Amino acid sequence: MSDPTEISEEVVSAAVTAALTAISTAADSAALRVVRTEHAGDASPLARLNALMRTVPNDRKAAAGKLVGQARGRVSQALAAREAEIGEAEARAQLAAETVDVTAAASAWRPGARHPLSLLQERVADVFVGMGWEVAEGPELESEWFNFDALNFDEDHPARAMQDTFFVDPPEAHLVLRTHTSPVQMRALLSRELPVYVVSPGRVFRTDELDATHTPVFHQIEGIAVDKGLTMAHLRGTLDHFVKAMFGPEAKVRLRPNYFPFTEPSAELDLWHPTFKEGARWIEWGGCGMVNANVLRSAGIDPEVYSGFAFGVGVERALMFRNDVKDMHDMVEGDVRFSQQYGMTV
Ligand code: PHE
Repeated sequence: MSDPTEISEEVVSAAVTAALTAISTAADSAALRVVRTEHAGDASPLARLNALMRTVPNDRKAAAGKLVGQARGRVSQALAAREAEIGEAEARAQLAAETVDVTAAASAWRPGARHPLSLLQERVADVFVGMGWEVAEGPELESEWFNFDALNFDEDHPARAMQDTFFVDPPEAHLVLRTHTSPVQMRALLSRELPVYVVSPGRVFRTDELDATHTPVFHQIEGIAVDKGLTMAHLRGTLDHFVKAMFGPEAKVRLRPNYFPFTEPSAELDLWHPTFKEGARWIEWGGCGMVNANVLRSAGIDPEVYSGFAFGVGVERALMFRNDVKDMHDMVEGDVRFSQQYGMTV
């Protein structure tokens, strides 16, 4: 619209018509904002007509003022109405877009899971912590002295060959990947005040091929107690409580004579497993015995005053017969679906 020079009914109604058309065709709130500026803003035709009021002779001022005022009123009413209409439509569209189908199947989100071997080790440790024992750890790369010598394995004693050892270069460093958790016995005795009641779960290594029942990397839990007056009866009682806590009230232990350089007497530890899938039976689970006097002496402990017992059990084996895992591969391959069967408890 060219600049109006006077307020006439035609000019005002042309401005109103143009405004109303623009308002009714504005499709969304952004378009309506533009229309508002063009037809009701400071530079709009109606605002410019309003500015002409100064030039209108006094006798026509009232009529002209009424004309322009009504015109602006109609436009701003139409703007408000269209704004409400568009606002409502847009809110409806947004709600429709954000609709949640509460009947839809849930997405397959799964909670995390920890490896059952870790869970089982912690469970065993909990049983002993419940009896007032402490949990100790030792290094996996171990000195030959802690792994063998301190445990009464003679330099050329055949028992050293009992366990197929990974020796670590260079040979003069005398390092091995620990073949059992028993080196923690000596570490616990050297670093703690007596009496000592310690369990030590951890990873151990032997040169076995991976197959259904063997893996070169596996886990044991060692226990050692050294105190005044400990006997084989304390060992038995402790193991009995342990297996009942792990395998139920009907579980029990059987000790069969055996040989370990670091215990004397030594015994094979068998477990009566009442809920074994293939029927209740005795299962070989580990070794145990009274701590050999030579081991106590190596730790500077007088075997005339103190005595101790120790035991070691395999964690993989426990998971196999306790949770019916048939193949060792499942435990080592790291397929998360294996762990997810257990979740956070084993
Ligand atoms: N360390 C022995 C093994 O790995 C088990 C054991 C531990 C035996 C403690 C007696 C005492 O075979």
